[in-house]
Amino acid sequence: MAYHHICVKPFAGALGAEVSGVDLAALPEAALNDIRVAWLRHLVLLFRDQSLTSSQYLAFARRIGEPVEYPLLRGLPDYPLIVPVIKQPHECVNFGGLWHSDTAYLDAPPVGATLLAREVPPVGGDTLFANMYLAYEALSHGMRGLLDGLRAVNTSVKADVTRTREDRLSDAGARRRPDAAFEAVHPVVRTHPQTGRKLLYVNYGHTVRFEGMTEDESAPLLQYLFTHLARPEFTCRVRWQVGTLALWDNRCTQHNPINDYSGHRRVMHRISLGAERPR
Ligand code: SIN
Repeated sequence: MAYHHICVKPFAGALGAEVSGVDLAALPEAALNDIRVAWLRHLVLLFRDQSLTSSQYLAFARRIGEPVEYPLLRGLPDYPLIVPVIKQPHECVNFGGLWHSDTAYLDAPPVGATLLAREVPPVGGDTLFANMYLAYEALSHGMRGLLDGLRAVNTSVKADVTRTREDRLSDAGARRRPDAAFEAVHPVVRTHPQTGRKLLYVNYGHTVRFEGMTEDESAPLLQYLFTHLARPEFTCRVRWQVGTLALWDNRCTQHNPINDYSGHRRVMHRISLGAERPR
């Protein structure tokens, strides 16, 4: 299907497209329909030069899906659904700085998310995304058959990801007990309800073991899958500019912000969208 109201240019073979010809603060309904089609096709969409106020940003997000709270961080004082993701010049770790699918430790993780770049370093601070349809489809028939029947345990307190949140939790953590943990069991292979395609749904940030197995027993196969799903040919790289808005499908992609801008500040405003139990 051709687009009638937007211009869409893929920027990598695996996933990711830049959408031009739109002002997200004044988007006609017909252009929104085109965006929905492009989002399902390309999984990650970039919109450049969007100088949106918080109110306009939230209004755009509401037209795409239902904004939902991020469970671990507080949002902006006047806009609690907009969560600042900040790295200060003196900090060493970046929030969520490893391959993950957002909040896979919830029973119904978000369908998607948007990130709006407010401050970016002069160079670096890109975010990698990976296509989980491709990761699944590249596995052998035998491996797909093995994984199809498995479920995996996802937790909010896996050690590596917890370390990436320490700075932000100390100044912007949500008001809950620091030891509170979320845990959810999800299919290792899930089916996207809109495209009907199967995809790999384990991630390095949150998946700890297969259901019914110990962490030690699960580790070799999980480690294989974590390496496999980040193969370069499944990925794209987003280079941010102030005013870049990214919209991604959190079901069939994973992301990994790169921590290569020591000494510089980076500020992103994030909105999580929708909630859906993986099946
Ligand atoms: C996140 O995982 O939400 C942060 C992504 C980024 O900072 O690029």
